[in-house]
Amino acid sequence: MTNLTCNFDTIPTRAGRGTLKYDLRGDLFGRSDVIPMWVADMDFECAPQIKKAIVERADHNLYGYDIGASLCGGSVGNWLRRRNGWEVECEWLRFTTGVLAGLGFAIRAFTEAGDAVVIQTPVYPPFRTLVEANGRRVVTNPLHHTADGFAMDFGGLEKIFSAGARAIILCNPHNPVGRVFTRDELTRLGELCVEYDVTILSDEIHSDLIFAPHRHIHIASLDERFAARCVTFVAPSKSFNIAGLATSVAIISDEKMREKWDAEYARSHIIEGTLFGHVALRAAYDHCEGWLEELLAYLKGNVEYVHTFLCENIPSVKAPCQQGTYLVWLDFRELLDSLPPARLVGELVEPSAAASGGGGPTNSASSGHRRLMSWLADEAGLGLNSGADFGREGVGFARLNVATNRATLEQAMSQLYDAVGRLC
Ligand SMILES: Cc1ncc(COP(=O)(O)O)c(C=O)c1O
Repeated sequence: MTNLTCNFDTIPTRAGRGTLKYDLRGDLFGRSDVIPMWVADMDFECAPQIKKAIVERADHNLYGYDIGASLCGGSVGNWLRRRNGWEVECEWLRFTTGVLAGLGFAIRAFTEAGDAVVIQTPVYPPFRTLVEANGRRVVTNPLHHTADGFAMDFGGLEKIFSAGARAIILCNPHNPVGRVFTRDELTRLGELCVEYDVTILSDEIHSDLIFAPHRHIHIASLDERFAARCVTFVAPSKSFNIAGLATSVAIISDEKMREKWDAEYARSHIIEGTLFGHVALRAAYDHCEGWLEELLAYLKGNVEYVHTFLCENIPSVKAPCQQGTYLVWLDFRELLDSLPPARLVGELVEPSAAASGGGGPTNSASSGHRRLMSWLADEAGLGLNSGADFGREGVGFARLNVATNRATLEQAMSQLYDAVGRLC
């Protein structure tokens, strides 16, 4: 379909190789033949420059302790300057085995047991579990959802902050709603955090995956006062499909915050990414910008294809205007009443948010939602993320990962169309 030089139309066979997205289908969806469009990794092979760097390093045939993290600073700094105009210094960087590991680390370093930490639902489910598992309290400030899309509820934030919340986990771009927050929104949030002395844990793992004309802005780059209370998390993992290499970056410009981070490091000694992760990070940031641009063009095509297909063929299923990420937040609420009964409970994965209380759906909403997830798997043959896992605002929604080849996406949309056609 493309005149790109990278071939995203051909995807390798991933089933049977211990691949989370494919090989857990039976457990999660009760059947292993669904098209897997859930967890946030891509079906595309990574850039050849990354493979070359890994193979060269592997050929050395010696995998002892390394100082790879300390060699990554220039690559990270150049990348952030080139892509987003943010100047960071090498001494601000800390490396972790993933953004979630880093977030957990930051929650322990910058908040105390029992502190309130704000999340803006619907949002990436592990935020809630990380906060709770670390003995802190989750306070939700749901995003406003209007016909114009999703936005932060600043009135709600101010109330929560004035009641004493200590930190907020910002997700920008936002998973799952695909928003890329604007300069004005981030400034407003930053000012509130300064006023109420709230620490900002800014998860920007999807920040390379932005569709023009939208642009990524690092909240810490806007104002020194924001930076002084902020940890920014970035990684090559989503952008270059190397999440299995478990290497990501935390950026902390404030010296006192770095001291707290380093004290937590002394307590836990998590490793600073992996040997091959560091090699891949440098190859990605130094040599793969062209590959990323081609990927973005392909993903934008996929996102637009889904939007156009739904508008023209299944207007009862809605998707918000996608500004970033390859994760599309589908709204099935209009269909809920026409769906057949769910498979018996127990055969289908239950929304984990429901199980963990607080953020999950109520019982009646949960039954409608269970019907949705059951119908998506059994009738449409699709393995999507359950919206209810992202908070109670996600009841009636499901998250679709479009980072696959166009042929698979067309097949998925065609199966969805047929399933909707069979509803009375
Ligand atoms: C917003 C967000 N943060 C963090 C992660 C997980 O990152 P990591 O694998 O680096 O822990 C994901 C994965 O999908 C994500 O979407």
